[in-house]
Formats: sequence, structure tokens, C-alpha cells
Amino acid sequence: MFSVNEIRKDFPILERHVNGKPLVYFDNAATSQTPQIVIDSIVDYYSNYNANIHRGVHSLSQEATDKYENARIKIQKHFNAKEAYEIIFTSGTTHSINIIASGFSSLLNKGDEIIVSALEHHSNIVPWQMLCEKTGTLLKVIPMKLDGTLDMKTYHNLLNEKTKLVFCNHVSNALGTINPIKEIIDAAHKVNAAVLIDGAQATPHIKPDVQELDVDFYVASAHKLCGPTGQGMLYGKTAWLEKLPPYQGGGEMIATVSFEKTTYAGLPHKFEAGTPNICGGIAFGTAIDYMNAIGFNKIAAYENELLEYATKQLLEISGIKIYGTSKNKTAVISFNIDVVHPYDIGAILDKLGVAVRTGHHCAQPIMDFYQIPGTVRASFSFYNTKAEIDIFINSLKKAIQMLT
Ligand code: ALA
Repeated sequence: MFSVNEIRKDFPILERHVNGKPLVYFDNAATSQTPQIVIDSIVDYYSNYNANIHRGVHSLSQEATDKYENARIKIQKHFNAKEAYEIIFTSGTTHSINIIASGFSSLLNKGDEIIVSALEHHSNIVPWQMLCEKTGTLLKVIPMKLDGTLDMKTYHNLLNEKTKLVFCNHVSNALGTINPIKEIIDAAHKVNAAVLIDGAQATPHIKPDVQELDVDFYVASAHKLCGPTGQGMLYGKTAWLEKLPPYQGGGEMIATVSFEKTTYAGLPHKFEAGTPNICGGIAFGTAIDYMNAIGFNKIAAYENELLEYATKQLLEISGIKIYGTSKNKTAVISFNIDVVHPYDIGAILDKLGVAVRTGHHCAQPIMDFYQIPGTVRASFSFYNTKAEIDIFINSLKKAIQMLT
């Protein structure tokens, strides 16, 4: 096990006070904090080799290009993609999903079916609804169960020869449920449907192997795993990326341009029109290195300890209801206290220095299923401590006293 006290020294923000209290940051599912080494890599880029990439013969441009492409290789290795060009840099998970949804609109026809899970973030629902409006494709939903897991029996029954694509998150952002994605992928492939897995919430805790999963598309955001905002990735199998049309037209994504005919660049550039978030890509690589140096097995084991410790104490509070009780979950606890509105709890916790997210967590169908407006969500990371959980529990008890 690593020393959490040593790890905390890597994160300058954890020294901060909020409203006169030491910060307890439990909103890691919204965005993780950034270690100094990642901040340094951003500063280093703008201080020492800021230049556009893939374009210049000059030294700065070549240096920036090398570092950017080296980051792509780090990400390829992390996800065990076969080729570096199967990793497309994007602005985040939402952008990645939209690239696929937009591409599939030219491949799908009226009467085709696509399947989504009931546990999705809005970013893995709305682009597909837009696609269905355009193509006449039918959107079907894998229902969820009371414990926040998917009804896999119904999933298997939904699959048929009309199913063209299945998309599902690896981990639910609102509940922390880890979904059985290998089973989802294998079953979809039996009817020749492709599968997109939204890894935004899984990648801070789990190291996915895209070849072992045999997944067609896997997407994630850098800012959930100690990297910068505005940077994400899309993994796609070569055959799919070659088949899909480009998402945006512009510089960088072309081979030749004339008014008669334009031809597109090969992978990954076909999907990377315009000047990218260069230092974002480089800093993403640094963040991946940082987390791998700690080790994802150690991270998951420690976060599980935090999850168990907090769940036990929360369950002792009268009137509490925890949503998402799967045995297989990440360190996310979504809860409500009797009739108290989650927003009021969140606002008081903030006054006491504790940052949590409240509301529907961009997953309104889950809230509708439980017939609630939202929840309070505490989400832990490997740099959090049991002492912080104690502060959170005491602060929560104070908030309950004030509100009931
Ligand atoms: N998707 C992020 C969350 O769950 C923003 O909070």
C-alpha cells in the first residue's frame, strides 16, 4: 500500500482552505485534482516549446510534435491498443461519443436498432437520440434494477439481428456501479453489433485492456484521471475508424484539397481537424504516467477501503438512503437523508469545507427510476483519507441537525 500522506504532497490544491476550513474534496467523479507534475508539464509546454504541431520544420514545432505523439503512445500502451493511430485525441468523452454517433448516422437506416443502458450520463444518451431522429433508428434501453445494476437478462433479450450498436458506461457516474462490460461486448458481437464503452468514470480506478475486452470503441476524459480539462481520448478498432466518416472538416485531417475533390488523411489525423489541445495531450500522457507509477491495483484497493469505511458510518445515520448498492462499485456514494433536499445538504457541507456534488448528476433517467430529484454524491480518490471521511460525516450530521 502507498503512503497517502506522501501522495497528498503531490497535489497543491489539497492544502487549500474553503470558507475558513481545510478543503475536503469529495467531488472526484466530477473532476479529479491535478498533481504538480501534470501542472509542471503544462507550464513547461508554454514556457519552453509552445508551437503548432505536425506543420513546422522548425525545432519548436518538431519538439512539440514529438512530445504530443509520444503522449499518444503512452495512452496506447495504457489501454493496450494495438496501434497508436487507434487513439484519437479529443476534447473529452462527450466529444468522443459525438464523433461515433455522428459517424454512425451515415451507416444506420430506418428499422435498425441501437441499445443504451439505463445508467448512462446524458452525454451517452442525447447524441444517440439525435442520431435516431436523423436516421429513423430505434433506441432501446437496458433497464436497471433497484440496487443500481443492469438487468442483464433483458439485455440479452433485446439483442437481435437488427441491433447495430450497443453503448454503455463502464462505471455509472451517479451510482458507481461497475457494469459487466465483457458480457455486454461478447453478447453484442454474437449478433454482429458494435460496442462503445464510456470509460469516463472507470478510468480513474481501473486500467482497461481494449484488446482483451475486444471492445470496438472505448472513450475517456483526461480530467477524471489527474489530467487537464478539455482533453480526452477515443479508442477505436482500426477497421471501424477507417469505415467511419470524419466528424469535422478542416486543416490537419486532409491528404489533398482541391475544389474538385478533397481526400482525407489517414488515422488518427482524419478525426483530428484543427489545432488540438497540444499541451492537454502532453499533460494527459504525464497524468497516465503518474497514475501508473502509483499502480491502479493499489489505487483501487485503497479506494475500496475508503468506500467501506464511509459506507459503514453513513449507514449509522438515521433516515439515510444510499442509491447504488452493487457489490461491484467504485468509491462513489449517492445518498439522500429523509425529505431533506440534496442541494441544502451540499450547500451546508460547502460552508464546512466539504465539496460534494448534488443534483441529478447529468443522469436524469436514474433519478426518475428512483423517483427523486437528485442525490448528494460523495466520490473518493486515492489522495483522500479516512480522517477526511470523519470530517465529512461530522459535517453531514451538523447539516442534518440544521435542516431537520
Ligand atoms: N460527469 C461528471 C460528473 O458525474 C461531470 O459529475
